[in-house]
Amino acid sequence: MIIKPTAVSLFTGCGGSDAGVIKAGFNVLMANDIIPYAKDTYVANHPETHYILGSVADIEAFPKSDLLVGCYPCQGFSQGGLRKADSTINYLYLEFARALNAIKPKAFIVENVSGMVRSNYKHLLDHQLKIFSDAGYDVKYKVLNAAHYGVAQERKRIFIVGIRSDFGLTYQFPEITHGPDLDAYVTIKDAIGDLPLWPEGEFYDYDFHWYYMSRDRRRDWSEPSKTIVSNPRHMPLHPVSPIMTKLGDDKWAFTTEDKARRFSYREAARLQGFSKDFIFPETLNSSLSMKYKVVGNAVPPPLFEAVAKALPAIWD
Ligand SMILES: C[S@@+](CC[C@H](N)C(=O)[O-])C[C@H]1O[C@@H](n2cnc3c(N)ncnc32)[C@H](O)[C@@H]1O
Repeated sequence: MIIKPTAVSLFTGCGGSDAGVIKAGFNVLMANDIIPYAKDTYVANHPETHYILGSVADIEAFPKSDLLVGCYPCQGFSQGGLRKADSTINYLYLEFARALNAIKPKAFIVENVSGMVRSNYKHLLDHQLKIFSDAGYDVKYKVLNAAHYGVAQERKRIFIVGIRSDFGLTYQFPEITHGPDLDAYVTIKDAIGDLPLWPEGEFYDYDFHWYYMSRDRRRDWSEPSKTIVSNPRHMPLHPVSPIMTKLGDDKWAFTTEDKARRFSYREAARLQGFSKDFIFPETLNSSLSMKYKVVGNAVPPPLFEAVAKALPAIWD
């Protein structure tokens, strides 16, 4: 029997990061989040993992594991978020550091929004790098674009990876696989071309308010999608929608009267790189906006898989 290396997952959501970790060959022992529907979805897809619902701050003990992964929330850093550099939510990385110090895994992977490298948040990034290296890790970080790793979506995110210092190894981020002179980008058509054009009940079918119309929300079938977000109001347009044209500063319009629509939550999952058989269970906690939320929050599984697979073989 092959014994797999083990992982503990924090800020797990519905498990985009974990789907990548599992594909990279890990056994996820424990997962955690505060969103009930994130747990429902995760458990429907990965029943073997022990998923704790509730704040990470209330978890007193963590199982020992080879790898620790966590994508703490990003409200303060994201372009669409609150931009409060010191909001308390930005300090959840201290909970990740608490788990890191308790478990002392061989390696860890963190993902967060790329806004963290901006100058007004740099002090928070620097503090994370410091506490992770003080915990005994050789730490590297880099902003990666999911489209460069076979995901049908432009999505730039920062990854922070650490290898425990006693290994004396430095992490190398995975080489880009998709782009000019490499494999062709995976397109919207590749990802969702087999799905129905008008999946009734699966897409957010409300008006396009002024803010939505302040930029071009559409990409063609032959391109990767714009970034999938967790708020359905801001979800990019499906290519069945009319082309948009610029009218002026922050003002766009549809070029025809044909009906436009946003991507459905199921299409969003495909564009994030979730597998075709990913389950969205119907539970007491499920709703259209919850399905969008857990999918939009997720890390694209193929991107997380690439980052995890680039770790050196330190698991025996
Ligand atoms: C960026 S999302 C993580 C996405 C996830 N890694 C994935 O790939 O699907 C951040 C998550 O942190 C969770 N979260 C926020 N505060 C938390 C807390 N105090 N304890 C545990 N989870 C929390 C949010 O509910 C959200 O699901």
